[in-house]
Amino acid sequence: MKKLKVTDTDQDINEQWLQLKEQIELHNYRYYVLDEPELPDAEYDRLMRQLLALEAKYPQLKTADSPSQKVGGEALEQFNKIAHLAPMLSLDNVFSENELKDFGKRIEQRLGKISELCFTCEPKLDGLAISIIYLNGVLNTAVTRGDGHLGEEVTQNVKTLRNLPLKLQGTDYPELLEIRGEIFIPRSEFERLNEEALQNNQKTYANPRNVAAGSLRQLDPKITAKRKLKVYCYSLGKVSDDFVMPKTHYQRLQQLKSWGLPICPEIEQAQSIQGCYQYFNKIAEIRNQLPYEIDGVVYKVDNIDFQDRLGFVSRAPRWAIAHKFPAQEEITQLLGVDFQVGRTGAITPVARLEPVFVSGVTVSNATLHNMDEINRLRIKINDWVIIRRAGDVIPQIVSVVISKRDETCIDIEFPTHCPVCNALIERVENEAVARCSGGLFCSAQQVESIKHFASRKAMNIDGLGDKLIEQLAQEKLIQNASDLYHLTAEPLLGLDRMAQKSVNNLLDSIEKSKSTTLAKFIYALGIREVGETTAGLLAIHFANLEALMQADLDTLLSIQDVGPIVAKHILTFFQQQHNQEIVAQLIASGIHWPTMSMIDPDLLPLKGQTWVLTGTLEHLNRQNAKEMLENLGAKVSGSVSSKTHCVVAGVAAGSKLAKAQDLDIRVIDEEQFTQKMQELGQL
Ligand code: IVH
Repeated sequence: MKKLKVTDTDQDINEQWLQLKEQIELHNYRYYVLDEPELPDAEYDRLMRQLLALEAKYPQLKTADSPSQKVGGEALEQFNKIAHLAPMLSLDNVFSENELKDFGKRIEQRLGKISELCFTCEPKLDGLAISIIYLNGVLNTAVTRGDGHLGEEVTQNVKTLRNLPLKLQGTDYPELLEIRGEIFIPRSEFERLNEEALQNNQKTYANPRNVAAGSLRQLDPKITAKRKLKVYCYSLGKVSDDFVMPKTHYQRLQQLKSWGLPICPEIEQAQSIQGCYQYFNKIAEIRNQLPYEIDGVVYKVDNIDFQDRLGFVSRAPRWAIAHKFPAQEEITQLLGVDFQVGRTGAITPVARLEPVFVSGVTVSNATLHNMDEINRLRIKINDWVIIRRAGDVIPQIVSVVISKRDETCIDIEFPTHCPVCNALIERVENEAVARCSGGLFCSAQQVESIKHFASRKAMNIDGLGDKLIEQLAQEKLIQNASDLYHLTAEPLLGLDRMAQKSVNNLLDSIEKSKSTTLAKFIYALGIREVGETTAGLLAIHFANLEALMQADLDTLLSIQDVGPIVAKHILTFFQQQHNQEIVAQLIASGIHWPTMSMIDPDLLPLKGQTWVLTGTLEHLNRQNAKEMLENLGAKVSGSVSSKTHCVVAGVAAGSKLAKAQDLDIRVIDEEQFTQKMQELGQL
């Protein structure tokens, strides 16, 4: 890419902007629509930053179709109401094969004798409907469904959707194109958000549709942009009269696809109602593996002339039907509430339910998270409640059926004392969570912290499950994590279902777990608010445990992503004598992680390689990054040449990155580098 000089003409600037725009558009399309990424993420980010910088300097370049809009524009005060050019309809439902056959018969009766009746079969995405208008190929307006005639304008938010082009591809498109589609949150993103909420002791989201709807109705598009929403287009609204669209629904979808619009990849054609039913069964089987949530499938008569002849009844077309999966929501009664004590003393109310069968599983418990959630739901013991279970998501209480409430319903009382150790329960102002003040004297907290220590992402002690830990604690064989490393065969043999073989296996796994990484060990300690990521950052920053244990507040605060609360938890943890003793005992029992002196120099995995670090590393300390490479046998050089093995490109990498690209040298970003260092035991 050409560098701009002061003397550059408007034409040069325009040309550079256009080049950047086209590259980013192509990358977006390859990544989000074709699912065939070509550029490393770091390179994409670099292009986007160049575009943003150019547009900041020359605001006239910030056009409606610039990919810079994808990061979210200005916040709004309120949403405007806009009328749809063609009404947005809904669908009638069927729930069984017989009802589906009736749908087929109704169509045949209305159409009379026809030679063949084909359908397009589509997943019924569980998101929210959107209408998007392209004028002369440029995304102009996006409106929610609303009441089907009048919706809310959410154009700025829709522009942030990951897989939606701001400009159509090619040139052969109508002047006016109104498309309809479903906005949804990918399953992985939904799970990530819920995990994040759990870690922050916040309420988890009950279902992906709510998150998608909540994210789209944000006045600040930057928030929407962060949620990584997507859209699949499934039909047309108004199209310029002079433009001839194909005559079947399936071909129309292909036409949309050829303009770069995203179409659900699981769409298929069926030649009969029987074929539709086969499609339903096939999708039902792969439903939980799909990267998005669906609540059924939709069949649409393929031939547009037939669609026109069939028309509508009230607000739904006669030519389409939704075939819904069995409900994921059921109603049951709340029998009582138990209060569980977690690793950090957090008291979690858990609903005890009259067992109910929801989408293939019997549910008898559901978390109520905290007192705020109980208040929000206004739930009482004996209330009838709606339970929802979707995929692998933990069952949730969605709402209370107030109309079924009677005089047997009683308020839920939050305990004042820990149900396990009887210590006082404290509630910090502005925190949703209430905690047992018993600390590690509370046996529930002891057991939970050992479970965390042994878990897969921590010390990964195979065969040491939650139940066994509970049993070991019950028998007073362990009180803290370091006791695990003093277990012997004899007392274990006396436990339930522990024969010689299981005992040997368990002792083997405990022994194996001694060889770990610093990041995993820090994570395993279970310091409040120190999850896997923070533990990794601490390991990168301090490189050894003593340095972390002795760090003061300022040093901790200097680490990116470590705020005052986390820093305080780390300090408090290591200040406690009890914790210092346990750490010392753990190390004394032989827990270790790789350091340079332990590895035979000839066997170092990067021996003989030359690496270059360039740009700003956001999480890693550059000196530590260098040391890690050197620990692995690599030489770290300041310049790129044909002998360079790999370049690690941080933010705003410049000429070294360009040179590496010219010479076709492997470039990785910070995330990939961190991953590699983890694989090679440095983190
Ligand atoms: S077609 C006239 N196709 O389901 C046809 N709708 O219950 C209108 N939906 O509001 C809709 N996936 O939000 C259609 N492949 C699909 C769909 C789909 C999800 C939603 C849509 C609509 C609702 C109707």
